[in-house]
Amino acid sequence: MKKQLAYEMTGSGAPVVLVHAFPLSKAMWAAQVQELSKSYRVITVDLPGFGLSLRQTEPSVAAMAHAVAALLDQLKISEPVFIGGLSMGGYVVMEFFRQFPKRVKALGFFSTRAGADSEEQKQKRRELAEKVRNEGVKVLADTMIPKLVGESTLKNLPQAGEQIRQMILAGNPLGTADALLAMAGRVDSSDLLKIIQVPVLILAGQEDKVIPATEAEIMQKQISKAEMHIFEKAGHMLNLEQSNHFNALLAQFLKKQS
Ligand code: MLT
Repeated sequence: MKKQLAYEMTGSGAPVVLVHAFPLSKAMWAAQVQELSKSYRVITVDLPGFGLSLRQTEPSVAAMAHAVAALLDQLKISEPVFIGGLSMGGYVVMEFFRQFPKRVKALGFFSTRAGADSEEQKQKRRELAEKVRNEGVKVLADTMIPKLVGESTLKNLPQAGEQIRQMILAGNPLGTADALLAMAGRVDSSDLLKIIQVPVLILAGQEDKVIPATEAEIMQKQISKAEMHIFEKAGHMLNLEQSNHFNALLAQFLKKQS
């Protein structure tokens, strides 16, 4: 049965919240849950309209962030948390910080950007939302995989593409279309970067065709306590393409915060 916000919580210790990319689900964090739950309480969520979560009545990235905070309330987690997100997950994390700065101990911005969409991008998202509603999520699987996975990974680890395809195909077309409209409507978070005083881990892929690694550099320059790593030979889906490297960097960063 669908839930308000489906989640998985594994391990014990300081809470670590991970927010997935578009158009995937919490399943994308399986390798991180397995490794990090040895030392932390790892919480992964299905954003509204994805996986086992219900759709939002008025889809927005701000409402997604609000839903994550409501989940933490439900889990009685009042201490500040590490919260990290990849791409769309990063947009949600920025909003979470905007709305609930006191709930944040440290942040992770992975393959993401602070800026909002241009008018042209917004229009493209609206058209794609319509297409997904009419034709289903398969249109995304076909067009997005070559963009989401870096060229080197497509050659060296072809199963990563297949893994992503299965996650996309498991999606609900209506929830996926909602998320496209939510992303189109998100506000620019660039103004937030300068006021972030908590430590931030920024990770990006050299071969990312969705959000270029230059966006990571822009964020790093603005944030006072940012640590940045650019993955060579990785595209957008860093945590799936190079899970060991991703896990090691995240574990090292989290250890410094404890
Ligand atoms: C994602 O990977 O979450 C999306 O591609 C981000 C976006 O479309 O802006």
